[in-house]
Amino acid sequence: MTVSKELSSISQRLQVRHLLKDTRFQTESYGADVVQGLTQTPKTLPPRYFYDDWGSQLFEQICELPEYYVTRTETAILEKYAGEIAQVTGVCEIVELGSGSSTKTRLILDAYQAAGLPLYYLPIDVSAGILESSAKQLLVDYPTLRVQALAGTYEMALSQLGDAVLANRMICFLGSTLGNLNPQECDEFLSQITAALQLGEYFLLGVDLQKPKDILDAAYNDRQGVTAAFNLNMLTHVNRLYGGNFDVSQFTHWAFYNEDEQQIEMHLRSDRPQSIHFDALNLSVNFETDETIRTEISRKFNLEKIQQELKAKGLIPQHVWTDEQSWFGLILCQLQLS
Ligand code: AVI
Repeated sequence: MTVSKELSSISQRLQVRHLLKDTRFQTESYGADVVQGLTQTPKTLPPRYFYDDWGSQLFEQICELPEYYVTRTETAILEKYAGEIAQVTGVCEIVELGSGSSTKTRLILDAYQAAGLPLYYLPIDVSAGILESSAKQLLVDYPTLRVQALAGTYEMALSQLGDAVLANRMICFLGSTLGNLNPQECDEFLSQITAALQLGEYFLLGVDLQKPKDILDAAYNDRQGVTAAFNLNMLTHVNRLYGGNFDVSQFTHWAFYNEDEQQIEMHLRSDRPQSIHFDALNLSVNFETDETIRTEISRKFNLEKIQQELKAKGLIPQHVWTDEQSWFGLILCQLQLS
């Protein structure tokens, strides 16, 4: 195919919708989550502020770290069982929440292609740049693929999915991103999944499971310091967005496994007393020595319990796959009348 024919065929197979610019969704006032998080005790900032361009690149690096078993383990499960997923669902369009660089998606697309099934992919991500570039690369690599990309938050995109184009639909939420939501947010999120699906449609969920503390501590305190850089980059990002004057050299990365809550907690600890000002928010915040900002929780799940939670939402587990050490679980649910 000539380059120009290939390009036109790609543009015919790609549709991108930018929900972030849609005024219907702009309900929250500018920086309200930063003001709320930094004026409460203990201080918090939402994990979404990890992901500017540099933060997204650092996260890709984390996924390759020897200590960060999460991505490798889930990928190995998908490599082994994506064919079974395709067999269970049959003809099915694939919606992916937080698609990022769509690496794991390829394993799923390969399985559907190998089974002779049509390929229709709806990636959803807040980063419109990564969304479009990875969609274009997929369209080059899969000549029969059609892509309808949605740039927006999960909440926006789930409310805008509309009816499936193919006979069935599967929403994928991989990488244990569910673990970054607290129990209440998790409950609300699962309700949104249920509301977005029709009866008989599927939800594929990847969850990181409980395991010895030393393995978890090492995964979030890697020796190369990539996770520390990822955590600290949140301050640079927030500075840029809201005219803040955080001095990154005056904070230290701190991550530990909270066994009572069964979650990793990532914090940024202030190395000295300091006052931070945000020009764009008209906000000043004081820190004492060793006071922290909690930037993320990463919950580690019990496979039985999470299945009960899914069932309670009408998302009935059909298949569960794990690795040999039971470190990670992949759960394929179907929306049924409960
Ligand atoms: C995206 N999320 C599932 C990652 C996790 O493990 O909770 C984010 C992360 N934070 C530090 N390392 C990776």
